[in-house]
Amino acid sequence: MGNVYIALLHHPVYNKRKDVVATCITGFDLHDIARSAATFGVKKYFVVNPMPAQREFASRIFDFWQDEGSLEFNWTRAEAFKLISIKADLDEAIKEIEAIEGVRPKIIATSAKGEEKRLESRNLRLEIRNANSPYLILFGTGWGMTDELLSRADAILEPITGNSAYNHLSVRAATAIILDRLLGD
Ligand SMILES: C[S@@+](CC[C@H](N)C(=O)[O-])C[C@H]1O[C@@H](n2cnc3c(N)ncnc32)[C@H](O)[C@@H]1O
Repeated sequence: MGNVYIALLHHPVYNKRKDVVATCITGFDLHDIARSAATFGVKKYFVVNPMPAQREFASRIFDFWQDEGSLEFNWTRAEAFKLISIKADLDEAIKEIEAIEGVRPKIIATSAKGEEKRLESRNLRLEIRNANSPYLILFGTGWGMTDELLSRADAILEPITGNSAYNHLSVRAATAIILDRLLGD
């Protein structure tokens, strides 16, 4: 089964010019990634954004899908939304996992770039299966997580490659593929 948490980071990430920026939360990142998280048994989906107005935006959508009427209207969406936890920074997410699990999670970053030594998905899959300890898998927005953020991870997962030189997936597609590789039946 695995003891896996995921986080979507909106800061610190790069923009097109490689400036360090904070990106905005999008509705479809909340909906689509929450559904993938629920499908693959992820314990929590942290949406991390330092901007209070952005967290307020996400909270309003979250609250809407938790009320009785929404539950009755679309229970599969409401069920997936229960996994969302909105945080200001990565440390808050790590703290919440530590409070639940009693230990720090092993942090695994993801990236489309594959230059340096990367952890193979099949090895991480085995590791997760054989461990009770928690894992936190990080996903980026914008032009990807900064080098400083990537360096906080215990390992960086090998990139997804298809059968062409192009591999710039949306974060929603990348999350679904990676969760299937690591936790799929
Ligand atoms: C750079 S963001 C792009 C966000 C984009 N604006 C969107 O709408 O999805 C995409 C994130 O998805 C993941 N990702 C994308 N392509 C990937 C690949 N080929 N291998 C591994 N992870 C990938 C990484 O976490 C990356 O930071």
